[in-house]
Amino acid sequence: MKYIFANWKMYLSFDESCILMSQLLQEKSEMQNVEVAIFPSSISFSEIEKLARGSQWSLGAQNVAWVEKGAYTGAVSAQLFSELGAKYALVGHSERRHIFHEKNEDTQKKMSACFEAGLIPVLCIGETQEDLEAGKRQYRLQRQIDEALMGNNISERSFFIAYEPVWAIGSGSACTASDAEDIIGWIKLHLKDALGVDNVPVLYGGSVDATNVVSYTAQASIDGVLVGGCSAKFDEFSSILKAFDGA
Ligand code: PGA
Repeated sequence: MKYIFANWKMYLSFDESCILMSQLLQEKSEMQNVEVAIFPSSISFSEIEKLARGSQWSLGAQNVAWVEKGAYTGAVSAQLFSELGAKYALVGHSERRHIFHEKNEDTQKKMSACFEAGLIPVLCIGETQEDLEAGKRQYRLQRQIDEALMGNNISERSFFIAYEPVWAIGSGSACTASDAEDIIGWIKLHLKDALGVDNVPVLYGGSVDATNVVSYTAQASIDGVLVGGCSAKFDEFSSILKAFDGA
């Protein structure tokens, strides 16, 4: 099974989200052994879920609160997304870490909240350009993985990892497929050897488009892609789906 996950971020208005979803659903062909999941804004989530009902596509939350209920102004719980039909939730996306200052301990709590709510968390990890230059790539990734998974009884849980180097997100300069394959191979080895978990799907994200998508999904260790900017435009995302379908 391969996965194409679409993170719409805050790119679209409510109307634009509904129009894009309707267009994509009209266009889509049924692909064998591929799961497509859309991560719309919180405010359009419920309407997108109604549009997607009856299709093969899944939905996910872009972010969740780490508590279920209470006095948390502006927050939306994993439970609420689950109630509205979400299957997945992104946890620790680079923009949450770097713009909203989320720490590894926050990702740990959000992973627990997702597990409690029955959502499958997609833990996003990635090194910065400075990490890369300082030779701290594996160090950074290992900390992001280990600290998020700590105390979460992970051998009994379903979760994904999305490797998204910060320097590749939205930059138009993606990590090469062979570099992504090597590092994702290393992530899988670490999950198995140090944490005792096998079969965790690991996705690549960062400047994925129709011209490079197949180079990632053709790799043995890469289970799919997390697409940002190109997933919020009809022409680009349908080209990604077609490129994948025709591969
Ligand atoms: P991008 O974003 O495809 O626009 O680089 C990827 C992501 O942030 O998930």
